Amino acid sequence: MKKCSLWLEKILPPPRGNFMIRADLDKGYRRFSRGLSLILTVLVLVPMSIIAIVSRYQQITIFIFCALVAVLVVFQLSEAITGHLREAGLKREQFLARAEQPNKLASIGRLAAGVAHEINNPLAIINQQAGLIQDIHEMSPDFPHKDMVEESLAGIQNSVQRCKIITHRLLGFAHQTKVKMEEVDINALLHEAVDFLAEEASYNRIAMEFILDEDIQRPWSDHGELLQIFLNIIGNAIDALAERGGDGRITLSSQQVAPEIVRICIADNGPGMTAEVQQHIFDPFFTTKETGRGTGLGLSIVYGLIRNLGGTVNVVSVKGKGTEFELDLPVHQEEE
Ligand SMILES: Nc1ncnc2c1ncn2[C@@H]1O[C@H](COP(=O)(O)OP(=O)(O)O)[C@@H](O)[C@H]1O
Ligand SMILES: [Mg+2]
Repeated sequence: MKKCSLWLEKILPPPRGNFMIRADLDKGYRRFSRGLSLILTVLVLVPMSIIAIVSRYQQITIFIFCALVAVLVVFQLSEAITGHLREAGLKREQFLARAEQPNKLASIGRLAAGVAHEINNPLAIINQQAGLIQDIHEMSPDFPHKDMVEESLAGIQNSVQRCKIITHRLLGFAHQTKVKMEEVDINALLHEAVDFLAEEASYNRIAMEFILDEDIQRPWSDHGELLQIFLNIIGNAIDALAERGGDGRITLSSQQVAPEIVRICIADNGPGMTAEVQQHIFDPFFTTKETGRGTGLGLSIVYGLIRNLGGTVNVVSVKGKGTEFELDLPVHQEEE
């Protein structure tokens, strides 16, 4: 399968999600211990063989020789068995973490839907009452500070609209809004998402780079949900780069990696994440941002939405180097 052609690929093995760093440490350990046993074999067996051939005390030498061979065989075997056990343990850990994620999302989804429904009713009443006040206000003669009342009413109505968008998103997260499936032009959608955040990016002196394959297929997907996914990931990249004060770069790429799969990569050269943070980024309410700035819902929403669209999300992040999100989207949805 083709890989993302971005800079992270040059310094890292193929992305394996949150467990990459652990797996690489294990690989390094195994390589070291294999090397060590090879050196031991050469250092012990070669001189022993020579001694066995030339020595007069052949029986004792052959005995020591056999004993050493046995020790080395046991060492190699135990190393192989521990390696297998270690690998099995890692796989089990990965499986459990992945299996746990949908459960967390399902419970947070139910909570979100409950809250959204509860809030929708009083919101509708506030909106209705504000409309009524506005009608009376428009009909009433001039009085002192009439314009201030008008401003306040507009403020209330704007806030109600914002709350409605939030509750709609929450319901979307809980999959309780209607998904509108259509052919989606991924490249155009990436531009649309960047346009939304262009002002914020240029304020933080962040450059946006596109590496788009014009020949990719148009997946059968939901335009609104994909836009939300891209906005959440790009928004996080902007947050991560905001502190940098220049030289920040976000690279967006698209490619057809298989006949039925379109891959979208969103990479930044920000501060990256530790393995510890990476383990939790898809957990609802996990945030490293200060109170008031982060809700910790962005990436759990991304995870829920992309799964709902039949796709997958993977992250590769290196502390001090940057982060890359890789989204694989099926061109056609599997039949339910
Ligand atoms: N591009 C990125 N670079 C560094 N850290 C990131 C990036 N994207 C996400 N994160 C980490 O993942 C956490 C969770 O992100 P998210 O779910 O969107 O919640 P929030 O943005 O509200 O904190 C962030 O607080 C941050 O620590
Ligand atoms: Mg976020």
